[in-house]
Amino acid sequence: MLLCATPALAFDLQAHRGGRGLAPENTLAAFAQAASLGVDTLELDIGLTADGVVVISHDTSLNPDHTRDAQGQWLAAKGPSIRSLTLAQLQRYDVGRLRPESDYGKQFAQQKPVDGQRIPTLASLFDQVRALPEARLRMNIETKVDPTQPDETAAPDAMTDALLAEIERAGMAGRVTIQSFDWRTLARVAQRAPDIPRAYLSSPRTLADSRWTAGLELASHGGSAPQLVKAAAGASPKAAVIWSPSFGQLTQAQVQEAHKLGLQVLPWTVNGRADMARLIDWGVDGVITDYPNLLRDVMRERGMPLPAGSEAAR
Ligand code: G3P
Ligand code: CA
Repeated sequence: MLLCATPALAFDLQAHRGGRGLAPENTLAAFAQAASLGVDTLELDIGLTADGVVVISHDTSLNPDHTRDAQGQWLAAKGPSIRSLTLAQLQRYDVGRLRPESDYGKQFAQQKPVDGQRIPTLASLFDQVRALPEARLRMNIETKVDPTQPDETAAPDAMTDALLAEIERAGMAGRVTIQSFDWRTLARVAQRAPDIPRAYLSSPRTLADSRWTAGLELASHGGSAPQLVKAAAGASPKAAVIWSPSFGQLTQAQVQEAHKLGLQVLPWTVNGRADMARLIDWGVDGVITDYPNLLRDVMRERGMPLPAGSEAAR
């Protein structure tokens, strides 16, 4: 696989689902807005349609909190799974607006709707990113696979192989990281595309269940999440290895331990100003946030360099 690697970032400002605090999650509109605002990396999630197309969606089934059908009606309940629909069928749904009375809609009340947005293909995002004047923008792509619900999505190897093929077709290997809670995905990436950086996602729930950690047991690694990630990544990895924990349980000692092991630390999903400042003080290598505008403010106040926006780069 051809690489044109961008250098390691001093600090990686990642827009979670394209910055869902500001724009409809995982849509081309959100990704364009984040690029315009100025972020280092677009965070996104993928699934595989019935006809084998890699599409960008956090949910494995259509989410009634932000999905309307071809008649403009909100889905009354959880919709069909991504894997059961062809791309053409999927494109009939509008995901450009949150259902305002839903708890989810209330949680992201600042989000500006963009009616008409469809669940995009990964290829269309690659085209959009390629057309930007800012050539350093990266993408952190999460395979949404759940080992506890194997029927809900494509199998991990099939999804990973489809993702790697799409990355190769687009010549984007030097601009992506692949992340997953299901570490079987990352073992496949290490085997088939060892030059692509890998981010090992974790939460207390996934660390306690070895179905998520490719069979590795936390207890066999001194109860240390950084050591578990190091073991999963294997000896002498060719690309960067990132530990991406939920930020609420992360400690400064864990950040230090991970760094000693050669891992980068990239917590998710950090939306509060004080939490952002504390994590930066602890020396994390980046932060994933729904509010890239707020993280830019915190970085600016601390005198940190800011990623250029695509508007500024024109
Ligand atoms: O990148 C980590 C973060 O995106 C994981 O959470 O559920 O939003 O995909 P989720
Ligand atoms: Ca994600």
